[in-house]
Amino acid sequence: MNRRAIYPGSFDPPTMGHLSLITRGLFLFDKIVVAVAKNSAKAPLFSAEERVEMLRASLSDCDPARVEVDSFEGLLVNYARQKNAAAILRGMRATADFEYEFQMAMVNRHLEPDIQSVFLMTDYRWLYISSTIVKEAASFGADVSQMVPPPVVERLKEKFAAQGCAQRV
Ligand code: PNS
Repeated sequence: MNRRAIYPGSFDPPTMGHLSLITRGLFLFDKIVVAVAKNSAKAPLFSAEERVEMLRASLSDCDPARVEVDSFEGLLVNYARQKNAAAILRGMRATADFEYEFQMAMVNRHLEPDIQSVFLMTDYRWLYISSTIVKEAASFGADVSQMVPPPVVERLKEKFAAQGCAQRV
């Protein structure tokens, strides 16, 4: 059997938490399609193309037959169906994530009962990390190299340099 999961998200930017979840998801699924949402309600710091590029660079050591990076627009379940996915994979950090994830899983199940939402608890090392926190810390010049993969450290530096605060990153 060829069990395929979609791992959707904003990935603005990708963090070590995201990479850890992909690695752990590969114990459950034969293939994971990491899917960058183009139409996220949040105004992203990075374009969808930049987010895809950062994920590809960060996952360059993965078997391309098992990890694919793509982007999608519109309803996640339509994309998941198109990709022949059996599951939607998401990480859960703490109870704060639960309400939102629960609601999304229920809506997705209502729209497409054949695709299962699967949650993995985030590894304790990355429990406190979010893309939002990383962006804020990096914008004030903090060293985020323990929180994001090396290609993302570089892109954050470039992004904030372009915004005029290179000396602090
Ligand atoms: O990383 P995020 O921002 O928590 O990811 C949220 C995401 C992209 C998974 C979610 O917003 C999504 O699935 N968007 C696509 C539109 C959709 O299908 N929404 C859910 C049912 S209305």
